[in-house]
Amino acid sequence: MSNNPTPPILPEGYTLHPGFPSITNYCHLRAASGLTPKTEAQAAPIPKGSWYGCFITFSPPAVIITEASTPEAEKTVTVAMGRIIGDGGWYYHIVDMAVLPEHQRKGLGDAVLKHLLAYIQANSAEGLPYVNLFADPPGRKLYERNGFVDALPGQLGMKLPRTWVVKREAVEEIPE
Ligand SMILES: CC(C)(COP(=O)(O)OP(=O)(O)OC[C@H]1O[C@@H](n2cnc3c(N)ncnc32)[C@H](O)[C@@H]1OP(=O)(O)O)[C@@H](O)C(=O)NCCC(=O)NCCS
Repeated sequence: MSNNPTPPILPEGYTLHPGFPSITNYCHLRAASGLTPKTEAQAAPIPKGSWYGCFITFSPPAVIITEASTPEAEKTVTVAMGRIIGDGGWYYHIVDMAVLPEHQRKGLGDAVLKHLLAYIQANSAEGLPYVNLFADPPGRKLYERNGFVDALPGQLGMKLPRTWVVKREAVEEIPE
């Protein structure tokens, strides 16, 4: 049974939802915010493979309908997201922090991050949780403001480069 933290107060028109954006919205949010684009096949397993996530939608506040208004302009759009890959016991990795450029600098990234951290606090097993992330430059101030510190000198984030994937694919293609 999960404890859902109280949703944050957001600017008018914005609503935070627990869960994950649709595959289409996920792919759009990543690409439009400048993160590396992902395919729909890569996005499909996210709800099953993640521990928790949330996203924010925007519905324009009541608009004066004019002849120039289009249904497109009145639609609800997904504008922000973030999620946690974790075990629910102690280990949590925050990923996919993204806000559409035209909705940035309104506190949405901060609201998503605070909500994810509150969810960990409310639902983690007894004992100290370990929460980490890889911080791209646009997010660093946001993370620092919310208490994240450089893992160095104790730990250094490491990853396999893309060349590793290419090499692996080449190996898989060698006939037996
Ligand atoms: C990183 C990212 C998620 C932050 O989202 P955001 O919604 O702009 O974040 P916030 O609005 O909470 O904070 C951003 C800035 O806006 C400021 N801000 C917040 N509300 C504001 C308001 N109402 N008016 C003016 N400024 C405001 C914050 O103080 C902050 O300022 P600072 O960067 O100078 O400290 C977003 O920039 C993004 O999607 N970047 C591209 C993708 C990316 O790199 N993601 C990180 C991956 S690790």
